[in-house]
Parts: sequence; C-alpha cells; structure tokens
Amino acid sequence: MANDKEKEAAARASVRFVNDGDVVGLGTGSTAAYVVRCLGERVQAGLKIVGIPTSVRTKELAASLGISLTTLDECQQIDVAIDGADEFDPKLQLTKGGGGALLREKIIASASRQFVVIADSSKQVPVLGAFPLPVEVIPFAEALVAKEIAALGAKVNVRQTPDGKPFITDEGHHILDCRFGRIPDPPSLARKLSDTPGVVEHGLFINMADVVLMGKGDEVVEFRRK
Ligand code: A5P
Repeated sequence: MANDKEKEAAARASVRFVNDGDVVGLGTGSTAAYVVRCLGERVQAGLKIVGIPTSVRTKELAASLGISLTTLDECQQIDVAIDGADEFDPKLQLTKGGGGALLREKIIASASRQFVVIADSSKQVPVLGAFPLPVEVIPFAEALVAKEIAALGAKVNVRQTPDGKPFITDEGHHILDCRFGRIPDPPSLARKLSDTPGVVEHGLFINMADVVLMGKGDEVVEFRRK
C-alpha cells in the first residue's frame, strides 16, 4: 500500500536523529514499528542504543530484534523519542492514541530532549478532529467522563476489543474514542480534558513535536515546529 511505503520512508529518514549511545523512546503503532525494525538493523550493524518502549507490543518487537531496553525507573533522560501520529496540523499539534498507547507515549515524548514524529501523508490535516480523539479514563469514572465529553460536542464511544469487551490499556484503563469532527482550538480542549477528574490522559499532543517527517509519494517532507 502507498501508505505503508510512506510510513517506511518516514521511519527510515527518522533514524538520522539517533546517535550512538542514545537512549531512544520507541513509539507504538504501524509507523513506529518500521522505526523499531530499522533501528534493529542498525543495532545488528553495530549501533549502540538503549530503547524505552511505549507499549508491551513495542517492547516485544524491540526485544525480538536485539535492541537493548531500559525503563523510566532506571533512566529518566531520553535523548530522542520517535513515534507515529493519527493526525498533525500546521502547528504540528497532534492527535495520538489510535493504538491505545497514548499515556506512555506522552510520558516518553515529554521526557525526551527531542520528539520526532513520523507519518504518511494521510495524517496531515488542516484542522484536527476527523480522527476520533482517544481519551484514557479510569473505568470507575467512564460513564461520567463520557457524559462530560459529550457535552463538549463529541460523539463518544468506549473502545472495544473485537470480542466486544472494553479495550484495556497497558496501564489498566479504558479508552473513550471521542468524535469531535473538528477541533478548532486544540490547546483549549486539551486543558478542559486534563481538568476533568477521571481522565488519565488524552491524545492531544500540544507543542510537543519538534519535527514531523511525512512520507509523501517518493519523498519525505520535513516540518519543524516554529
Ligand atoms: C499509538 O497509540 C498511536 O499513538 C500511534 O502512534 C498512532 O495511532 C499512529 O498509528 P499508525 O502508525 O499505526 O498509523
């Protein structure tokens, strides 16, 4: 698929942000998996890095490729984090969490000196919100939080597994997928969500991405946050 080629091209371009000896935040999702595989190849060729994965899935993939891993308990200084996104806008504000790993992804991105986002061209949007915004919630508060987010104008669904059970995140929470349609003021919505008791984290990544590398056709386009 064209998107897969663009994802892989963006992922390959991102490894130039990784230097020998770095601690690297490893993202989650189909685009981030390309980076992990690419870093696995570099490690086989002699690159020395230590990865901090943002999900159990990524941890397993990285370990299977021979990438040394650590945790935030052992290491709080991350040189660069590389991760995908569901959408990015002209200010490089992001929605993330389509894969359900937004909480650990945001923690790792915020602890990194540099946050590099990789994406195929379908992720570039003029305004965030077409992709349902994932909001991670404490199960106890789920119905209440869903009602409050619906009052902000979203159609809210509890994310489910294919067999109809609530999706459980790596940290044991649920996810509400909130279809806003348009999010004209992402920082304002981010503040409202963060101020809602029961919300653990939301998928709006405001002023966090330093660089977005977007695969587009045969090229990789680089955007830098101003
Ligand atoms: C994982 O929780 C997400 O934040 C992903 O980074 C995002 O959903 C992009 O996923 P793909 O790379 O699979 O499109």
